[in-house]
Amino acid sequence: MANEFKVTPWTVTGNVDYEKLTKEFGTEPLTDEILNRIKRHTKELHVLLRRKVFFSHRDMKWLLDEYEKGNKFFLYTGRGPSGPVHIGHLIPWIFTRWLQEKFDAELWFQFTDDEKFLFRKKDEVGIGEYTKIAYENALDVIALGFNPKKTHFLIDSLPETAGMMYKEAIRIADKITASTAKAAFGFDDSYSIGQFFYTAMQAVPAILPSALKGVNIPCLIPLGVDQDPHFRVARDVYTKLGFYKPALIHAKFMAGLLADGKMSASIPNSTIYTTDSPKEVEEKIKKHAFSGGRTSLEEHRKYGGNPDIDVCYQWLYNFFEPDDKKLAKIYDDYKSGKMLTSELKDYTIAKINAFLKEHQKKREKAKSQIEKFLFKA
Ligand code: TRP
Repeated sequence: MANEFKVTPWTVTGNVDYEKLTKEFGTEPLTDEILNRIKRHTKELHVLLRRKVFFSHRDMKWLLDEYEKGNKFFLYTGRGPSGPVHIGHLIPWIFTRWLQEKFDAELWFQFTDDEKFLFRKKDEVGIGEYTKIAYENALDVIALGFNPKKTHFLIDSLPETAGMMYKEAIRIADKITASTAKAAFGFDDSYSIGQFFYTAMQAVPAILPSALKGVNIPCLIPLGVDQDPHFRVARDVYTKLGFYKPALIHAKFMAGLLADGKMSASIPNSTIYTTDSPKEVEEKIKKHAFSGGRTSLEEHRKYGGNPDIDVCYQWLYNFFEPDDKKLAKIYDDYKSGKMLTSELKDYTIAKINAFLKEHQKKREKAKSQIEKFLFKA
């Protein structure tokens, strides 16, 4: 069924109806009113805001009220290190970096090797495997240009991180019942108690700077909307423990190359990794990118293509063509049949490869910087 979709922190399937999801999750749409308020402080709106890739929120009005009173916020987001990073993962982080710069905010970035151990455990892979992946993934985060003086990486299983987080995690876990976790995540009795506990770990960084400093600091979490349930569960707990609830700003998923669903590292053909070579990018897009073009050239010229279902167009729209005029021309030309699928693909390939060339250079450099980012007590 076209309208059946499922979104949990661990699975996203089907064609997501974001309006419906907003209602289901009980979040609020990111209105122009809020965007304009953001713009007052940032002067310009990031393309990911203008194009509504970030589309929903919780408590942004409160966060902006506090900010306008002089109460600055910190940022928190994270990555489940299950495998290599793809370009869809970068989207919320690119936005987070922009926020860091515009609001001069600290960032706490959590790598959840514990989560991936608990939820991905296949063939009895040890947690250390996921810790290694976390270090690899950290290079992609650093490459985006976060300020090392204001950015703290937490890798959950490292003693420095775990020792500091545990005290807060148990306080949070103490206030979440098994039945709440079952309702929020669809767990049943076959799930391990580690899986039940995990959400407490993800909840901690939103209050960690407050707990460490002994003063409440507002927190803004940019995140893929699939991660919302963790914070929905934790919201009341934060208040019970005397902390602020964090504000959340939710992103849509980046389309995979194939027809439906988000880009997924477990379906390699659907995915462009940050370390792919220009040739690989070209081949993947040419072979696999779902296209809105017609079956023959004559038909395409005559009836035109459908940009709204075309994966390349979606990527240009979401991020890779920030120029509104150029984008509108591509839309019109493709729809009228003037622009061919091969031309749209070439254009997209060039954009992605230009981005990746820079990213890969910075990713190399990041190897000598990682120590500066790891949190040390
Ligand atoms: N659970 C997230 C994932 O699997 C990683 C994560 C941890 C996260 N903390 C977060 C994501 C905070 C967004 C915000 O990718």
